[in-house]
Amino acid sequence: MKGTFITFEGGEGSGKSSQARLLAEYLKEKGYDVEVTREPGGTGIGDAIRAILLNPELSEMGNVAELLLLGASRAQNVHERIEPALARGAVIVCDRFIDSTLAYQGYGRDFDLGLLKSLNSLATGGVTPDLTILLDLPPEVGLERSKALDKAEAKQGEGDRFEQEDIEFHRRLRKGFLELADAEPDRFRKIAVQQDMEETHKMVVEIVEGFLEGR
Ligand SMILES: Nc1ncnc2c1ncn2[C@@H]1O[C@H](COP(=O)(O)OP(=O)(O)OP(=O)(O)O)[C@@H](O)[C@H]1O
Ligand SMILES: [Mg+2]
Repeated sequence: MKGTFITFEGGEGSGKSSQARLLAEYLKEKGYDVEVTREPGGTGIGDAIRAILLNPELSEMGNVAELLLLGASRAQNVHERIEPALARGAVIVCDRFIDSTLAYQGYGRDFDLGLLKSLNSLATGGVTPDLTILLDLPPEVGLERSKALDKAEAKQGEGDRFEQEDIEFHRRLRKGFLELADAEPDRFRKIAVQQDMEETHKMVVEIVEGFLEGR
Protein backbone atom coordinates (compact mmCIF):
# COMPACT_ATOMS: atom_id res chain seq x y z
CA MET A 1 0.00 0.00 0.00
CA LYS A 2 1.09 3.56 -0.71
CA GLY A 3 0.49 5.32 2.62
CA THR A 4 2.33 5.36 5.92
CA PHE A 5 0.91 3.81 9.05
CA ILE A 6 2.17 5.18 12.39
CA THR A 7 0.98 3.94 15.79
CA PHE A 8 1.44 5.24 19.33
CA GLU A 9 1.62 2.72 22.15
CA GLY A 10 2.16 2.87 25.90
CA GLY A 11 0.41 2.60 29.24
CA GLU A 12 -2.32 4.74 30.76
CA GLY A 13 -1.62 8.49 30.65
CA SER A 14 1.67 8.14 28.78
CA GLY A 15 0.57 10.83 26.32
CA LYS A 16 -0.51 8.78 23.30
CA SER A 17 -3.64 10.81 22.51
CA SER A 18 -1.84 14.13 23.02
CA GLN A 19 1.13 13.11 20.86
CA ALA A 20 -1.07 11.63 18.13
CA ARG A 21 -2.96 14.92 17.91
CA LEU A 22 0.22 17.07 17.95
CA LEU A 23 1.88 14.91 15.29
CA ALA A 24 -1.19 15.06 13.05
CA GLU A 25 -1.31 18.87 13.35
CA TYR A 26 2.39 19.09 12.55
CA LEU A 27 2.17 16.85 9.48
CA LYS A 28 -0.95 18.64 8.17
CA GLU A 29 0.91 21.91 8.49
CA LYS A 30 3.68 20.36 6.37
CA GLY A 31 1.14 19.55 3.67
CA TYR A 32 0.66 15.83 4.29
CA ASP A 33 -2.71 14.14 3.88
CA VAL A 34 -3.18 12.93 7.48
CA GLU A 35 -5.81 10.94 9.33
CA VAL A 36 -6.00 10.17 13.02
CA THR A 37 -7.80 7.22 14.51
CA ARG A 38 -7.73 5.37 17.82
CA GLU A 39 -8.41 2.02 19.43
CA PRO A 40 -10.69 0.92 20.72
CA GLY A 41 -12.77 3.27 18.56
CA GLY A 42 -12.09 5.26 15.42
CA THR A 43 -15.41 4.34 13.76
CA GLY A 44 -19.08 4.50 14.76
CA ILE A 45 -19.02 0.80 15.58
CA GLY A 46 -15.64 1.09 17.31
CA ASP A 47 -16.71 4.02 19.47
CA ALA A 48 -19.83 2.12 20.55
CA ILE A 49 -17.58 -0.83 21.49
CA ARG A 50 -15.19 1.54 23.29
CA ALA A 51 -18.00 2.80 25.50
CA ILE A 52 -18.72 -0.79 26.58
CA LEU A 53 -15.04 -1.65 27.11
CA LEU A 54 -14.21 1.36 29.27
CA ASN A 55 -17.45 1.53 31.31
CA PRO A 56 -16.38 0.98 34.95
CA GLU A 57 -19.92 -0.18 35.79
CA LEU A 58 -19.53 -3.24 33.54
CA SER A 59 -17.18 -4.96 36.00
CA GLU A 60 -18.76 -8.32 35.09
CA MET A 61 -16.89 -8.24 31.74
CA GLY A 62 -14.99 -11.49 31.19
CA ASN A 63 -11.52 -11.49 29.67
CA VAL A 64 -12.61 -13.35 26.53
CA ALA A 65 -15.47 -10.94 25.81
CA GLU A 66 -13.04 -8.07 26.34
CA LEU A 67 -10.54 -9.58 23.91
CA LEU A 68 -13.12 -10.20 21.18
CA LEU A 69 -14.66 -6.74 21.53
CA LEU A 70 -11.21 -5.21 21.10
CA GLY A 71 -10.70 -7.39 18.02
CA ALA A 72 -14.05 -6.37 16.55
CA SER A 73 -13.24 -2.69 17.03
CA ARG A 74 -9.85 -3.19 15.35
CA ALA A 75 -11.29 -5.11 12.39
CA GLN A 76 -13.74 -2.28 11.72
CA ASN A 77 -11.04 0.38 12.12
CA VAL A 78 -8.83 -1.36 9.55
CA HIS A 79 -11.75 -1.90 7.18
CA GLU A 80 -13.30 1.55 7.42
CA ARG A 81 -10.39 3.92 8.19
CA ILE A 82 -6.90 2.47 7.91
CA GLU A 83 -7.01 0.53 4.63
CA PRO A 84 -8.73 3.32 2.66
CA ALA A 85 -6.27 5.91 4.03
CA LEU A 86 -3.28 3.75 3.11
CA ALA A 87 -4.70 3.04 -0.34
CA ARG A 88 -4.91 6.76 -1.16
CA GLY A 89 -1.39 7.39 0.14
CA ALA A 90 -2.19 9.21 3.38
CA VAL A 91 -0.30 9.15 6.66
CA ILE A 92 -2.57 7.48 9.19
CA VAL A 93 -1.80 7.92 12.88
CA CYS A 94 -3.43 5.45 15.26
CA ASP A 95 -3.62 5.88 19.06
CA ARG A 96 -3.04 2.24 20.22
CA PHE A 97 -3.11 -0.81 17.90
CA ILE A 98 -2.01 -4.48 17.86
CA ASP A 99 0.68 -4.04 20.51
CA SER A 100 -1.85 -2.87 23.09
CA THR A 101 -3.61 -6.24 22.73
CA LEU A 102 -0.33 -8.10 23.28
CA ALA A 103 0.54 -5.94 26.31
CA TYR A 104 -2.91 -5.73 27.98
CA GLN A 105 -4.40 -9.11 27.13
CA GLY A 106 -1.07 -11.00 26.92
CA TYR A 107 1.15 -9.57 29.66
CA GLY A 108 -1.76 -8.10 31.64
CA ARG A 109 -4.41 -10.85 31.40
CA ASP A 110 -2.14 -13.80 30.59
CA PHE A 111 -3.58 -14.87 27.23
CA ASP A 112 -1.14 -16.82 25.06
CA LEU A 113 0.82 -14.41 22.85
CA GLY A 114 0.59 -16.77 19.85
CA LEU A 115 -3.20 -16.83 20.10
CA LEU A 116 -3.27 -13.02 20.35
CA LYS A 117 -1.06 -12.67 17.30
CA SER A 118 -3.44 -14.91 15.33
CA LEU A 119 -6.41 -12.82 16.45
CA ASN A 120 -4.55 -9.64 15.55
CA SER A 121 -3.88 -10.90 12.05
CA LEU A 122 -7.52 -11.91 11.64
CA ALA A 123 -8.59 -8.39 12.71
CA THR A 124 -6.03 -6.55 10.58
CA GLY A 125 -5.90 -8.82 7.53
CA GLY A 126 -2.12 -8.47 7.85
CA VAL A 127 -1.98 -4.66 7.93
CA THR A 128 0.91 -3.76 10.25
CA PRO A 129 2.28 -0.39 11.33
CA ASP A 130 5.29 0.96 9.45
CA LEU A 131 6.42 2.79 12.58
CA THR A 132 5.39 2.37 16.23
CA ILE A 133 6.32 4.95 18.85
CA LEU A 134 6.35 3.57 22.38
CA LEU A 135 5.85 6.23 25.05
CA ASP A 136 7.41 4.73 28.15
CA LEU A 137 7.00 6.02 31.67
CA PRO A 138 6.49 4.59 35.17
CA PRO A 139 2.83 3.53 35.52
CA GLU A 140 2.43 5.51 38.76
CA VAL A 141 3.13 8.75 36.86
CA GLY A 142 0.83 7.86 33.96
CA LEU A 143 -2.07 6.87 36.21
CA GLU A 144 -1.69 10.16 38.13
CA ARG A 145 -1.88 12.08 34.84
CA SER A 146 -4.95 10.13 33.73
CA LYS A 147 -6.70 10.81 37.03
CA ALA A 148 -5.90 14.52 36.84
CA LEU A 149 -7.33 14.60 33.30
CA ASP A 150 -10.51 12.79 34.44
CA LYS A 151 -10.94 15.38 37.16
CA ALA A 152 -10.41 18.27 34.75
CA GLU A 153 -13.09 16.78 32.50
CA ALA A 154 -15.38 16.50 35.53
CA LYS A 155 -15.56 12.72 35.38
CA GLN A 156 -16.04 10.92 38.66
CA GLY A 157 -12.33 10.20 39.07
CA GLU A 158 -12.86 6.47 39.60
CA GLY A 159 -11.01 5.75 36.33
CA ASP A 160 -12.09 3.56 33.41
CA ARG A 161 -12.14 -0.26 33.59
CA PHE A 162 -8.42 -0.52 32.78
CA GLU A 163 -7.31 2.37 34.99
CA GLN A 164 -9.00 0.54 37.88
CA GLU A 165 -6.65 -2.46 37.60
CA ASP A 166 -4.01 -2.70 40.33
CA ILE A 167 -0.49 -1.33 39.95
CA GLU A 168 0.98 -4.80 39.30
CA PHE A 169 -1.21 -5.08 36.18
CA HIS A 170 0.17 -1.78 34.92
CA ARG A 171 3.76 -2.85 35.71
CA ARG A 172 3.26 -6.00 33.61
CA LEU A 173 2.00 -3.85 30.71
CA ARG A 174 5.05 -1.67 30.84
CA LYS A 175 7.36 -4.69 30.85
CA GLY A 176 5.36 -6.14 27.95
CA PHE A 177 5.59 -3.02 25.80
CA LEU A 178 9.35 -2.83 26.43
CA GLU A 179 9.84 -6.47 25.46
CA LEU A 180 7.74 -6.04 22.31
CA ALA A 181 9.84 -3.00 21.34
CA ASP A 182 13.07 -4.92 21.90
CA ALA A 183 11.79 -7.81 19.78
CA GLU A 184 11.05 -5.57 16.78
CA PRO A 185 13.66 -2.81 16.77
CA ASP A 186 13.05 -1.96 13.10
CA ARG A 187 9.42 -1.04 13.71
CA PHE A 188 9.60 0.42 17.22
CA ARG A 189 11.09 3.67 18.53
CA LYS A 190 11.05 4.18 22.27
CA ILE A 191 10.72 7.54 24.05
CA ALA A 192 11.20 7.81 27.82
CA VAL A 193 8.47 10.34 28.59
CA GLN A 194 9.93 12.25 31.50
CA GLN A 195 9.87 15.68 29.90
CA ASP A 196 6.92 17.97 29.14
CA MET A 197 4.54 17.50 26.24
CA GLU A 198 6.29 19.93 23.87
CA GLU A 199 9.68 18.30 24.46
CA THR A 200 8.16 14.89 23.80
CA HIS A 201 6.52 16.24 20.64
CA LYS A 202 9.91 17.44 19.37
CA MET A 203 11.33 13.95 19.87
CA VAL A 204 8.35 12.44 18.03
CA VAL A 205 8.81 14.87 15.12
CA GLU A 206 12.48 14.02 14.86
CA ILE A 207 11.70 10.29 14.69
CA VAL A 208 8.87 10.69 12.17
CA GLU A 209 10.77 13.13 9.93
CA GLY A 210 13.70 10.73 9.82
CA PHE A 211 11.38 7.86 9.05
CA LEU A 212 9.47 9.65 6.27
CA GLU A 213 12.70 10.85 4.66
CA GLY A 214 13.97 7.28 4.54
CA ARG A 215 10.90 6.04 2.64
N1 LIG B 1 4.79 15.00 28.86
C1 LIG B 1 3.76 15.31 29.65
N2 LIG B 1 3.97 15.94 30.82
C2 LIG B 1 2.95 16.22 31.63
N3 LIG B 1 1.66 15.93 31.37
C3 LIG B 1 1.40 15.30 30.22
C4 LIG B 1 2.43 14.95 29.29
N4 LIG B 1 1.87 14.30 28.24
C5 LIG B 1 0.55 14.26 28.49
N5 LIG B 1 0.27 14.86 29.67
C6 LIG B 1 -1.05 14.99 30.28
O1 LIG B 1 -1.34 13.71 30.81
C7 LIG B 1 -2.72 13.41 30.61
C8 LIG B 1 -2.85 12.12 29.81
O2 LIG B 1 -2.34 12.33 28.49
P1 LIG B 1 -2.99 11.60 27.24
O3 LIG B 1 -4.49 11.63 27.35
O4 LIG B 1 -2.37 12.14 26.01
O5 LIG B 1 -2.43 10.13 27.52
P2 LIG B 1 -2.91 8.75 26.91
O6 LIG B 1 -1.67 7.95 26.79
O7 LIG B 1 -3.71 8.99 25.70
O8 LIG B 1 -3.80 8.21 28.09
P3 LIG B 1 -4.89 7.00 28.05
O9 LIG B 1 -4.09 5.74 28.06
O10 LIG B 1 -5.64 7.21 29.34
O11 LIG B 1 -5.69 7.23 26.82
C9 LIG B 1 -3.33 14.61 29.89
O12 LIG B 1 -3.93 15.43 30.87
C10 LIG B 1 -2.14 15.29 29.28
O13 LIG B 1 -2.35 16.67 29.13
MG1 LIG C 1 -5.64 8.41 25.29
